[in-house]
Formats: sequence, structure tokens, C-alpha cells
Amino acid sequence: MTLVQLRTARPPSAVVGGPLVDPQARRVRYLRVSLTDRCNYRCTYCMPEDGIDRIARADLLTLEEIATIVQVFAGMGVERVRLTGGEPMVRRGLVELVASLAALPLDVVMTTNGARLAGLAAPLRQAGLRGLTVSLDSLDPGRFAAITRRGVLAEVLAGLEAASAAGFTGIKLNTVAIRGFNDHELGALALWAWERGHVPRFIEVMPMSGGRLYVPGELLPASEIRERVALAAGAPLVADSGEGVRGLGPATYWRVASGPHAGRRVGVIAPMTENFCGSCNRLRLSAAGSLHNCLARDDAGDLRSVLRSEGAVALAARVRAVLGYKQSGHTFALDGHGGPDKAMISIGG
Ligand code: 5AD
Ligand code: SF4
Repeated sequence: MTLVQLRTARPPSAVVGGPLVDPQARRVRYLRVSLTDRCNYRCTYCMPEDGIDRIARADLLTLEEIATIVQVFAGMGVERVRLTGGEPMVRRGLVELVASLAALPLDVVMTTNGARLAGLAAPLRQAGLRGLTVSLDSLDPGRFAAITRRGVLAEVLAGLEAASAAGFTGIKLNTVAIRGFNDHELGALALWAWERGHVPRFIEVMPMSGGRLYVPGELLPASEIRERVALAAGAPLVADSGEGVRGLGPATYWRVASGPHAGRRVGVIAPMTENFCGSCNRLRLSAAGSLHNCLARDDAGDLRSVLRSEGAVALAARVRAVLGYKQSGHTFALDGHGGPDKAMISIGG
């Protein structure tokens, strides 16, 4: 079935079942869609050195299938779709996909490593992409190359410039905070982001991949992250009251209280020390079409086979069935136990 046929077809009947609500009465508003499990980087905390079992081509959702599934979610009240990877910008047809999703009644945003952003920022903006999150773990070219195992910092910086020039505002910069690696840079990263109108965000490192990539001593707790940013800002941080302390995602936002950087925002994503599962509003679709209730758990329900064998009309009921298994929260432990076997690269954060 083509995308055009879908648009003119009657919406799947199960969509009339009302908004998506999980067993803990949390409403699902946000779908993260992994477009590929490939990446042009190999970030040490994301991708096991010996790689992962890659999704076979025949098992990959086509762009039309992705658009069909997202359309069903839009019909169930999902307000935002975030395209992730692996690295979403290595998927062919990305701009066309964004254009087709942008025609649906939800915001389309993307998380990228920025390596291909310089060439893609303008076409993606034109296609209707509403927001960008770019990973940036260091402003030092050597350290950047080390953590990404092959990234070139200058390419990402050029990508960010192109994105601003193309009209993206409020670009979020994601930094995984790693003690002994980039902890001394957090303040500089925040100042650098603010100077350019971006929003710095710092993420506690999580024990994905069965904890194999996780080193307990590397965890920098959110409280310390905020201390370092406050030190660089020269003033305390206060909880942001703008759009509520939380945005639509898992970050809590803070503002500089006074001084030359007064009002600047910083986001902190703290699954390890400030659990946010109680306000979880997300589901994740893998590039192979399995629906994951949780980043931190391995159970998932297959949508691809339902779509291919029964068609789009069967999807909404299947989504509700999978959501019925959503647990109240993750079981990540500070020592690295309790996480999923799946790798971050296979689900996109
Ligand atoms: N812990 C925390 N964050 C991670 N990311 C990738 N792997 C991990 C991990 N183990 C981040 C990426 C990207 C976002 C999607 O998730 O750097 O910014
Ligand atoms: Fe690629 Fe992002 Fe994983 Fe780095 S964190 S290897 S950029 S998917």
C-alpha cells in the first residue's frame, strides 16, 4: 500500500478507542522511531566494540510502513515523533520521509550525531522538521574522535552552523556526562551552547548492553552536573517554570538565576539518580518494527508482521495490546546491573 492510498483510506477503526493510556494511567504522547541500527560513529558507551547483530534488510520497515505506523499513532493522540537511529541521517529517503510525516498532525523532530547535518539541515527544515537534538560530548577534537571512535568534530560544528542558518532554533545539544572523560568540560559546553542560542543537556550514563559498556565510576550524578554548570555560569540554577519543569521528554530544565547568564536554560536527563519513570509518556519503535515499551527493558511487540499480514487496520489494537505490558519503571542499578541486553544503537535512546 502506498502512502497516498493510505491517506485516502478510512482511518483504522480501532483508533476511535481514545488516547493511549498505559496500565499506570500514563498517557502516551511521544513516539521515538529508530530508522536504522547503523551509525557512522561508534560511540564507546553506545556500541559494543564487536558490533551488534544487525537488522536484516528484509526485516527493516520501509519508509511507507514507517509513515503508516506513525499515522496510526497520530490517530491515537501522539503529539510528537522523534526520528533516531543508530544515526537517522544514514537512512536513504530521510528527507522524503520527514516530508510525509510532517503532513500528519504531530511534530516531527530528530536526534542526530550531526556528522551529515551540514548537507541535510536545509532540506530537512524545508521538509518540515521542527526540532533537532545533536550529540556533542566534547569540544576538543581529540577527545571527540576518541569517544566517537571515528567522528570529526569540525563536521558536527559545521552542521550546527548550517542548522541555525536553515532556521532551526532551540537546538538541543546532548552530552553524555562521563567522569574522567568530559566532566571538566561540562561548564564550557554549557557556555558554548548558550553563546550560540542552543540548549545544553547533560545525560547520566546508562548501563545498556547488559552493562558491558558501563563503568560505575564514570557516572556523574545529576546533582554534580548541575553544580558544574552553576560554577561556570557563576550563579545558582533554579528549576525552570517555563513549560513546566519537564518538557515533553525526560529532561528536567533549569535556569541560571542571576548574573551575566541569567535566564539561560540547561536540561538534565538523570535516569540513574533522579528517576523519571513516573512521568514516562513514550513508546519506541525499532527499525525492524518492534514496539518497545521501555528503553531499559528487552520485551517488545512486533508491529511489522501485523502490518504485513493484516494491514494497517490491525495496528491500533496491536499497539494497545503491547502497551498493556508497560511496566512502571526501569531497574537500572548504579553498579551497572538491571539494564537490558539491547544496545543503545539498536533503539536510539
Ligand atoms: N547512556 C546515556 N546516554 C547514551 N546515549 C547513547 N548511549 C548512552 C548511554 N549508554 C545518548 C547519545 C545520544 C542520545 C540519544 O543517547 O549520546 O545523545
Ligand atoms: Fe552513533 Fe549515537 Fe550511538 Fe554514537 S551514540 S554510536 S552517534 S547512535
